[in-house]
Amino acid sequence: MTEPSRDRSVEVLLPREKIARRVRELGAEIARDYRGRTPHLVGILKGAWVFMADLVRQLDLDVTVDFLGITSYGAGMHSSGEVKITKDIDVSIEGRDVLIVEDILDTGHTFKFLQEVLSVHQPRSLRLVTLLDKASRRVVPVHADYVGFEIPDVFVVGYGLDFNQKYRQLPDVRVLRSQDSV
Ligand code: IMP
Ligand code: MG
Repeated sequence: MTEPSRDRSVEVLLPREKIARRVRELGAEIARDYRGRTPHLVGILKGAWVFMADLVRQLDLDVTVDFLGITSYGAGMHSSGEVKITKDIDVSIEGRDVLIVEDILDTGHTFKFLQEVLSVHQPRSLRLVTLLDKASRRVVPVHADYVGFEIPDVFVVGYGLDFNQKYRQLPDVRVLRSQDSV
């Protein structure tokens, strides 16, 4: 059967099985590193919601979760670097081992913003796990503590990632070429 919104001429970069395998490995690594502690996972909406849902289920640990909604000004394939909060965190992070869960690290502007706004609340530690890392695109010198996959400079959608709010539901990570995106 054809799945309408999935039957696109967009090539699969990371098939769902490969993502699932890597998320299991990341879960094991994080659980090892936080053994004996209760990390507080802060998922960044909306892109990280699918990854976060899969990751927490691979953590053999007590965890608490919260979400922070942000948006970058400007739609399309390039963010302006200006970030604003659309939904604040609900639970205090003071003294907590905070692990930010992101979909993708690109120029680094968003992560720098997140570090600034969250460190004000004095967490005990602040780390980042990102499913994808476009390291070659970095403008701000930040790095993730845990990376699922380093990917080349292509625009990707699926597994939570969007183009103008579309394609988040795709189970694989796919490359969106500009001619596909109209
Ligand atoms: P940064 O601030 O440039 O690091 O951008 C991070 C944000 O840009 C991510 O949270 C995504 O929302 C968005 N982004 C960057 N690259 C892509 C992509 O290839 N597909 C979808 N969103 C992307
Ligand atoms: Mg995003």
